[in-house]
Amino acid sequence: MSDQVGLSVAAIRTAAPSFQPRIGIVLGSGLGDFADAAEPVAILSYSDLPGFPRPGVGGHAGRLVLGHIEKMPVALMLGRTHYYEHGRPDGMRIAIECLKAIGCDILLLTNAAGSLRPEMPPGSIMLIEDHINFTGVSPLFGESGDARFVDMVEAYDPGLRQRLQHAAEQAGIALHSGVYIWFCGPNFETPAEIRAAKILGADAVGMSTVPEVILARYVGLKVAAISIITNPAAGMGTMPLTHAQTMAAGKRASEDVCRLLTAFLATEAAVEKV
Ligand code: HPA
Repeated sequence: MSDQVGLSVAAIRTAAPSFQPRIGIVLGSGLGDFADAAEPVAILSYSDLPGFPRPGVGGHAGRLVLGHIEKMPVALMLGRTHYYEHGRPDGMRIAIECLKAIGCDILLLTNAAGSLRPEMPPGSIMLIEDHINFTGVSPLFGESGDARFVDMVEAYDPGLRQRLQHAAEQAGIALHSGVYIWFCGPNFETPAEIRAAKILGADAVGMSTVPEVILARYVGLKVAAISIITNPAAGMGTMPLTHAQTMAAGKRASEDVCRLLTAFLATEAAVEKV
């Protein structure tokens, strides 16, 4: 365990002695309200957790909420850091190692994304079934040891995906499924890049999540990820792409995602009891 992971784990243990979350959830742009669903045990600022990111994008709070939702012990990360903020792909590494160290065995990631599919308009929700790393960058650059050769087949856990689909059906929410492609950002893509991405097999495009999935698989967490579709990808819609529009559309779909996550956590808690 690195010094920073050790210090952050100690800070969490002091704030929430004996609390053991099972599921870590990274709440992307506009999803912070989901934390209101938690019965909190402790709330920590990232600034009190060595190595946690200093989120710099509007809509990202920088807090770790430990608590229960539907009786499931969870660790909610409000805010993430992105590769484009500093050019480091491992900005979430300490946080993810820390979630593992305090007991999580599942990491559920959420993000905002552009759609490459006309039948998946803004306001839709997409379960990520696989990804394309279009950046060529890995958060494991410089790592030594055989564990760095992470198997990325079924990186998005099939069992979790099935249970999320089931929860969506129960909650009456349409949940698409597709491939997410990671672009560096912070600029949006060109229409030519989006046409290329479509040929490669992508359904949604975004600037986050993929390095977190690689890190989570590296430390042995099971992963699931959900995209909120906020806009047609570049060249596919009529509106210019702006961050403000992304945030506004994310807010609307976030209610559905909150209901989906709540339904999912309720079924996970029920399974746990059996
Ligand atoms: N491209 C990249 N990232 C995004 C987009 C997009 O169209 N929408 C939301 N995040």
